[in-house]
Amino acid sequence: MTLPRPLLLAAAGLLLSPAALPAADATAGAPDTMAWFRDAKLGIFLHWGVYSEGLGSESWAFHDGKTTYEAYMAQAATFTASNYHPEEWARLFSEAGARYAVLTSKHHDGFALWDTKLSRLNAKDASPAGRDLIGPYCDALRKEGLKVGLYFSNLDWSHPDYASVLPTGANPADPQYKNRFGYPQGRQDPEAWKRFLAFHRGQLKELETRFRPDLLWFDGDWERTDLQWGFRELREQLRQWNPTGIVNGRIGKYGDYLTPEQYIPLVPPPSAWELCATVNDSWGFQKQDHNFKSVRQVVRMLAECAGMGGNLLLDVGPRSDGTIPDEDVRVLRGLGRWTHKHAEALYGTVAGLPGGYFYGATTLNKARDTVYLFCFDRPNGQVALKGIRNEVLRVSVVGGPELVSRKIGGAEWVKMPGVLWIDVPETALDPDATVIKVELKGPLDLATEPERKP
Ligand code: GLC
Repeated sequence: MTLPRPLLLAAAGLLLSPAALPAADATAGAPDTMAWFRDAKLGIFLHWGVYSEGLGSESWAFHDGKTTYEAYMAQAATFTASNYHPEEWARLFSEAGARYAVLTSKHHDGFALWDTKLSRLNAKDASPAGRDLIGPYCDALRKEGLKVGLYFSNLDWSHPDYASVLPTGANPADPQYKNRFGYPQGRQDPEAWKRFLAFHRGQLKELETRFRPDLLWFDGDWERTDLQWGFRELREQLRQWNPTGIVNGRIGKYGDYLTPEQYIPLVPPPSAWELCATVNDSWGFQKQDHNFKSVRQVVRMLAECAGMGGNLLLDVGPRSDGTIPDEDVRVLRGLGRWTHKHAEALYGTVAGLPGGYFYGATTLNKARDTVYLFCFDRPNGQVALKGIRNEVLRVSVVGGPELVSRKIGGAEWVKMPGVLWIDVPETALDPDATVIKVELKGPLDLATEPERKP
């Protein structure tokens, strides 16, 4: 994404503000549709569309004036999907350890990957791909046991009835708002907006009733208010079309979880959440972008998310023909080596210890009687864990040997336990991140700082 964009930044801020928290208890008593999501920890994000030839960014390229709308859309002629084998995608994602994937069914440019009946701007009618690409993706994921996510951009910079408005407080003289696709000025035409909303709902109905995605991943809600979008009513409508489907937090405050983007939160977000982040610097495939994160860096991102109770939605950009570039594949396979070895420390776990007890990420099993310690750095002999009042039953390396450990020190008179010192031999280390399993007698009993009288 092309930062800085004041609006997006504002939107990102909003996503973590208490006002934007998912509506609590909206589904009280209903089946827990979020359960799979909370347990999943890793998903794969795919940005695939007319821009996947790799010459510029998805949608933003024409919005930001880097190319003309016409030149941008001319790229559709290269969108062949001629080597599109979603079963191979699905196998690769499983190999990486992902439990779900999210594919751009329609990005801000309005080009749909399914054969929507509501616009000719779609893969079947407007590109050599010549067919629906969403159905085969959903089938392949389901066959592989993965949950199906579909990204859908609320805003549509191609639709004739989608005239934008100037953002609140923006100066109309500012050249960045002189873009007919971005923020055309002038009064809103209420009739056009009504028509646009009917189109928006119509496309969503197609997606929900035809493909029944487990997750609808909205984006692009920042150019209108919740009220204008009718998000509250939309959420109800989505539930009727697809009762078990969940939605991310980019339909105003009516989503099921928060979506920090491109940064690991410093403190745990206040409700269910997922970090979306790119493997290199681009959402879609871009030829010149070789700034890939290492497997180790991605492992760490994933462990930090899980440690704060969240998921990582890791983005890769397939090429126009549907192949996933080798550089992405290498990272996904490397990640898979680690996730499979450490599955028990990851999937189905909950957020670990708060700061101050261990220097690194931690997770807990659901019974809260096992703590997993993620060691990102090579320990100098011993790893230390503080503040655990429980008796420690066993300490071991996940996928490795049992370890020697000993609690030393402590101040019983203020109920402050000693430090658990764990010996970690060099031979037990994992090349990307070593995970230590600490089994406790009974559920975690954490010490808290004794009150200090002045
Ligand atoms: C931003 C960008 C968009 C990208 C998305 C992924 O909203 O506008 O290009 O698809 O982030 O989270």
